[in-house]
Amino acid sequence: MTAREKWGTRIGLVLAMAGNAVGLGNFLRFPVQAAQNGGGAFMIPYFVALLLLGIPLMWVEWAMGRYGGKYGHGSIPGMFDEMWKNRMAKYLGAVGLMITAVILIYYTYIESWTLGFSFFSLTKSYFGDNTFETMRGFLASYQGVGEGHFDSVLPAYVFMCLTLIANLFVLYKGISRGIERLALIAMPALVIFAIILLIRVVTLGAPDPVAHPDWNVSSGFAFLWNPDFTKLSQAGIWLAAAGQTFFTLSVGLGCIQAYSSYVGDRDDIALGGLTTASTNEAVEVVFGGSIAIPVAVAFFGIMATQEIAQRGAFDLGFVSLPIIFTKIPLGQFFGFIWFLLLFFAGITSSVALATPVMAFLQDEFGLSRAKATALVGSVVFLALHLVVFFLGHGFLDEMDYWAGTFGLAAFALVEVIIFAWIFGMNKGWEEITRGARIKIPKIFYFVIKYVTPLYLLFIIGNWLVRDAVAVLLMDSVAKADLPYRWGARLLMLALLAAFILGVWHVWRKRDPRKREKGIA
Ligand code: TRP
Repeated sequence: MTAREKWGTRIGLVLAMAGNAVGLGNFLRFPVQAAQNGGGAFMIPYFVALLLLGIPLMWVEWAMGRYGGKYGHGSIPGMFDEMWKNRMAKYLGAVGLMITAVILIYYTYIESWTLGFSFFSLTKSYFGDNTFETMRGFLASYQGVGEGHFDSVLPAYVFMCLTLIANLFVLYKGISRGIERLALIAMPALVIFAIILLIRVVTLGAPDPVAHPDWNVSSGFAFLWNPDFTKLSQAGIWLAAAGQTFFTLSVGLGCIQAYSSYVGDRDDIALGGLTTASTNEAVEVVFGGSIAIPVAVAFFGIMATQEIAQRGAFDLGFVSLPIIFTKIPLGQFFGFIWFLLLFFAGITSSVALATPVMAFLQDEFGLSRAKATALVGSVVFLALHLVVFFLGHGFLDEMDYWAGTFGLAAFALVEVIIFAWIFGMNKGWEEITRGARIKIPKIFYFVIKYVTPLYLLFIIGNWLVRDAVAVLLMDSVAKADLPYRWGARLLMLALLAAFILGVWHVWRKRDPRKREKGIA
């Protein structure tokens, strides 16, 4: 087998990792979560989760990835197998691959909406539609789930194909010539766009000072940043905050590991991990928090902003902001860069979501990069049809719930136990600190060993008690949607089965010693 690829430059690695973490989660999911969970009330559990879960897991995953890379593994099954000499380890790893693949599928579709909407900003397609109802109709008809501007889902289908092709092109080019180059362009561009939008937002003031003097940008910021200690006893807020931390940092399933498997064995990961986390948080709270919410508050007030967030996960980004773009001078231009920013944020994350699967096919099956790209591309392309055509029936929601919310926390728990307790925290700490350019406070040794797993247990336990049964039985789902929801579950199980079979196939051949003894 040829030598594993490597990142070209340190700055390229840093930007690629930042691109991995910075994504739609920062600009679309964060403001919605914050508004739904009471703004200032959300930020406290959010920072607690960042310190006790996010940053520790970031180091664990960087370390795990570099360790696995040393043995030629860029995906979780091989990494678990090296760290835990147990036959089951690699199969547990297959679960991680399945979760990644599921998120990749629906993430790619949402990403393609941003490409579509940046185009519609240029063509002013949604201009003139000024009410919430018509703008919701615009989005819904684009998605093929309601009446409005579009009479078919064809435009969405086309943008979906374009987005997938762009992703596959980057993957085909590889780590340093594809992903790294993309990050070197997309990340600086994203920051420039965000700064332009931020300046536009803070200079908005109060758009309607006579009728609504308190609808202004500062009250939007105050809503987000005035801590509210009264709601801290609500478990739901803690769960949501932890979930957001995982999603935004890309931790809890193997994306960070896949990237760090292309790092040299003696290269720093302590500073790298911290840089990834802090860049992501800076983008999230400074840019992600300063665009969608303050603008919505300035134009519609706090009450309405919370309502918008409550009504739909995409309404802040795809409904309320476009309405505002139609009202401000040069709105066409601001709309264009808002959605292009989202697209750049999205594509640098979706290639990261594809990387573990790509690495699995290349490292374990010996496929060439071209073949791996073709295989990943075909499977994602086929699965995307289900998401595109059955969106209105909750296909995407079902996947987002199991993979993107529950799956991350559950898998993070598995990871940290394997790392800190089975591999062992002393070896683990040595992995994290070898080659380190910064000194990580020793307290994180204990955080990783005790606090992170207990915190995760608490979160998962809470979830089990609060809504596991209802969610499993799909109590809140319309009867007509049930077949599609089950379809989503079946697809996830099929992917899982495929990965388990793949793992079995590879390791059966690989370990002749065990086969002789008749174990495998
Ligand atoms: N972090 C990305 C975002 O904020 C999405 C993402 C990429 C992700 N890789 C992940 C989320 C792995 C969870 C796990 O949009």
